[in-house]
Amino acid sequence: MGFFTKDIHDMNDLFVAGLKDIYYVETAIVDALPDMISMATAKELKSALQAHLEETKNQVRRVEQVFEMHGVRAETVDSPAIDGILEEANVVASDIDDKDVLDAALIAAAQKVEHYEITSYGTLIAWAKGLGRDDCASVLTQNLDEEKAADAKLTALAEEGVNRMAA
Ligand SMILES: [Fe+2]
Ligand SMILES: [Fe+2]
Repeated sequence: MGFFTKDIHDMNDLFVAGLKDIYYVETAIVDALPDMISMATAKELKSALQAHLEETKNQVRRVEQVFEMHGVRAETVDSPAIDGILEEANVVASDIDDKDVLDAALIAAAQKVEHYEITSYGTLIAWAKGLGRDDCASVLTQNLDEEKAADAKLTALAEEGVNRMAA
């Protein structure tokens, strides 16, 4: 995006800009999840994050597929929003010594990421449909459904953790 010219003129450009954002987000998560997995202590949390890492790698491929279907070269744009969420997770995690509390913080960070993804995919799907690209919308919906399932799984783990700590 240039300082001297505006690159986004219509809804199609905005859709492509959103695709580039989520492409950056998914690749950043593939990079960030291994550290979160190694920090997590509860076995169920580790395995949930590991499973979502595998799903996320597949989501990257689906986003690439949508670029291709739409006839646009797959590329990323900087996403300061997701960088901030991931940075915050590292800062908080490095300040915690209790393992259950650390797990709770990791779940919270992971859920912030999921919610960012859920809102991004929801918007992209609506825009794709508006552009008459139901085919792109249906591929993006597969990613959205996985993000929602990952978020629900994290909610269940958060509730279990809170109950364990209260017991
Ligand atoms: Fe994702
Ligand atoms: Fe996700």
